[in-house]
Amino acid sequence: MKVEPAAALVGAAAVPGVKGISQRAVLLGAVADGESIVRGFGRAADTESAITVARAVGADVVDDGGDELRIRGCGLRGLTAPHAPIDCGNAGTVLRLGCGLLVGQSGRYELVGDESLTMRPHERVAEPLRRMGASIETTEGHAPVTIEGSPLHGMTYELPVASAQVKSAILIAGLYAADGPTTVVEPHPTRDHTERMLELLGVRLRRTERSVTVWPVDHLPAVEVDISGDISSAAPLIVGAVLLNGSELILQGINVNPLRTGLLDVLERMGARTTVFNRRAVSGEPVADLEVRSTPLTATTVTAAEVPRLVDELPLVALLGAFAHGPTIVSGAEELRAKETDRIETVVTNLRAIGVRIEARPDGFVVRGTPARPRGGRIDAHGDHRIAMLGAIAGLVSREGVEIEDAESVAVSFPGFFDLLAQLTRR
Ligand code: S3P
Repeated sequence: MKVEPAAALVGAAAVPGVKGISQRAVLLGAVADGESIVRGFGRAADTESAITVARAVGADVVDDGGDELRIRGCGLRGLTAPHAPIDCGNAGTVLRLGCGLLVGQSGRYELVGDESLTMRPHERVAEPLRRMGASIETTEGHAPVTIEGSPLHGMTYELPVASAQVKSAILIAGLYAADGPTTVVEPHPTRDHTERMLELLGVRLRRTERSVTVWPVDHLPAVEVDISGDISSAAPLIVGAVLLNGSELILQGINVNPLRTGLLDVLERMGARTTVFNRRAVSGEPVADLEVRSTPLTATTVTAAEVPRLVDELPLVALLGAFAHGPTIVSGAEELRAKETDRIETVVTNLRAIGVRIEARPDGFVVRGTPARPRGGRIDAHGDHRIAMLGAIAGLVSREGVEIEDAESVAVSFPGFFDLLAQLTRR
């Protein structure tokens, strides 16, 4: 796939529903009572993996291929263990939250994934769950992960890394604790989609800025949730519009949960003009429309406390930095090395290959910007959807275009990405 240089991104668009909320709704729907309804399901390979898992453990997911799903849940402790391993594909959220869900069931479960998911660190979720009494083993820290349902107890746990996935797995397991509440303390606040969904379901939660406590339940009511657009899927379009002179882009119905909008804050510091309007609340989550125009940028610095609020957008921050006046520095972001690829490595190697002045650091990168377009060339996504989308936007803002290896990996989170991009592109 080659993305040619462009002049602007113009038009109005919507993007698929939030991936993480889609996955959470399906997984919690599987243990809810009765029929859950999910509207605005963000259809993609990673959310299909949630359906695969829910079905494998006994939930009936009625799916006609549109953006509405019906899930007939099995009840809180009603899941059944399949004989075969359960395939989570590329989806970290499905595997990690799946662990939290399965440790409180009965039977033996084996969770597997593709090569990338297999090699990611999963002891980070197994270790705290074990402290709750779970019987869960990783394969030398990686997948397959095997689980034998067992009685659980509440605990207080300080997360060593800021991870919404680990936090969520513990909170879900906390629903099954026999003896009282479970508290998770975070080094920095991370996305709270799990907390908001549990609150929507009437689960008792106590939240402070850096901690959340969940009380066990004896059942979960059916979920009914409307899911709006994923800001991580909107982000490549936002960055393209900021960088291409003459762009005028409207993105409709985007989830603007404040723990997900770090990119908008970074853009504001860099001098970009993005307007957030039509703010509303949908199924317990803040939603808005965004208007993006192009502007010259000044460099900025991102540090550890901000990282969780734009962790999946940091590859795009590198591209913004390539055009900004001064050095753009991302630090405290070693977690990037534990994503679908080592994203410090894949971002730096790929952007250097197309002419960007960027250097890796152990915990991030430094980009030296110039107003001139980078030359372009070839980017290898290594199967990482976020790197493929970065490559596409890099192509638009380059002089000679960018050829993307593994471009089809965008389907992990945003199957229609290239079609939408083509519709919005002005040459
Ligand atoms: C996610 C949390 C983040 C993010 C991932 C989705 C979630 O991971 O990178 O794409 O759905 O909770 P960590 O929580 O492990 O940082």
